[in-house]
Amino acid sequence: MNAPWNPARGSMHREPFIGFVCDDATAEFVKPVAAEFGWSIEKINKGGLRNAVQTLSVSASPHVLFVDMSESVNPLQDINALAEVCEPGTVVIAAGHVNDVRLYRDLLTSGIQDYLLKPFTPDQLRDAFAHAQMVLAGPRNADGAPARPHSLTAVIGIRGGVGASSVATSLAWSFAEKKQRLTALLDLDLHFGTAALSMDLEPGRGLVDAIENPGRIDGLFLERAMVKASDMLSILSAEASMNRPMLTDGSAFFQLQEEIRAAFECTVVDIPRNILIQHPHLLHVVNAVVVVTELTLAATRDMMRLLGWFKSNAPAVRIIVVANKVPVVGGSEISRKDFESSIEHKIDYVIGFDQKVAVQATKLCRTLADVGKGNRHFNPLGELVEELLALSDGTDDGAGYGAGKSGDGAKSAKAAGGPTLMNKLNELKAMLPSKGKAKVG
Ligand SMILES: Nc1ncnc2c1ncn2[C@@H]1O[C@H](COP(=O)(O)OP(=O)(O)OP(=O)(O)O)[C@@H](O)[C@H]1O
Ligand SMILES: [Mg+2]
Repeated sequence: MNAPWNPARGSMHREPFIGFVCDDATAEFVKPVAAEFGWSIEKINKGGLRNAVQTLSVSASPHVLFVDMSESVNPLQDINALAEVCEPGTVVIAAGHVNDVRLYRDLLTSGIQDYLLKPFTPDQLRDAFAHAQMVLAGPRNADGAPARPHSLTAVIGIRGGVGASSVATSLAWSFAEKKQRLTALLDLDLHFGTAALSMDLEPGRGLVDAIENPGRIDGLFLERAMVKASDMLSILSAEASMNRPMLTDGSAFFQLQEEIRAAFECTVVDIPRNILIQHPHLLHVVNAVVVVTELTLAATRDMMRLLGWFKSNAPAVRIIVVANKVPVVGGSEISRKDFESSIEHKIDYVIGFDQKVAVQATKLCRTLADVGKGNRHFNPLGELVEELLALSDGTDDGAGYGAGKSGDGAKSAKAAGGPTLMNKLNELKAMLPSKGKAKVG
């Protein structure tokens, strides 16, 4: 649960199981099932939730905690008191007489793993304990495979609608399904995110709860808050109410990244530009930032500004520029060469505009990478996945900011009288087709 880490308590031995029951009948009921799991029946105490709070405030929390809430007048308040003293990593199973779905939901949100309505059967208790053990084993350790370095990729769209979320979901899908890495997709577009929608999933309340109560974020919270798209891919996203601005100092985002990092092998974070500007610290732990752009004048201007911003706010981060929706026939508003020389950075990957694949992906609720398998316009996504994994696995030379820096652009800026924004914009204007000429793309 949420008790802050305490070095004195941290060094104490953690019992595999402790129970706090309200009456002898419940104690006699729990004992044989606990014994089946190899847990000591001596650890089943009287005093219910009240005693649990008192005891755990001065001793180490067990791995599995059973609390009887039958005598609790205000179960939610009491569970929150328990959360204050119970350390992260404890799986809590509660039992009680109150049959109210709202209470059940609130209890789960407060961090308990399961709520058993009394009277419950030995099988129900057995199942709850078995599930607790599974949760403790954790997804990463389940197959005993050695942990690979975590890959954390941020995806940012330079303008609205350039396809950043399509690239983010495609990358997450590729990590999970093609590379078989346990992957999380974190969609920080709280009001208008499309990660869950594009895979035909309900986003749930997890992300909104996390932002409203950052203190509750821990491994178990994450386990419940994330929505599973498949065995290998989980999503954390929201459709926050439009009547409610989501105010955060960014600590929840950072903490979520940390918890996800501990539980998954790959993370893809879809970061809207406004969130990035407000919370630059989100980039401190990423392996790479994928900036998705289109080849237009506005995108060129914003790319120049964003690359400048990266230089001051995240100078060490690897920036990968992906041009998406690039017209396959006809030209784009700005040519690739002019775009690269203006932004002084090369375009690392070019993804063509393919309406057929996009429509198919939407209809089937699948990602562009999935539907566009074998389609040459989307092949660069596969190459991008390889580069991102090479970066995190340490097999890429990871040259930091400007890895894709274009020498030509530097020269042309100099020729125009110095690398000021005005000079670059003047150059851009000169590149635009003169009045009367139709724009292509
Ligand atoms: N390469 C492509 N070819 C054709 N259509 C594409 C391509 N990439 C993305 N799209 C389409 O563009 C639309 C916008 O994509 P998406 O939602 O990913 O953009 P975004 O940058 O995340 O937008 P927002 O700014 O709203 O977050 C979607 O309908 C998507 O299917
Ligand atoms: Mg988006």
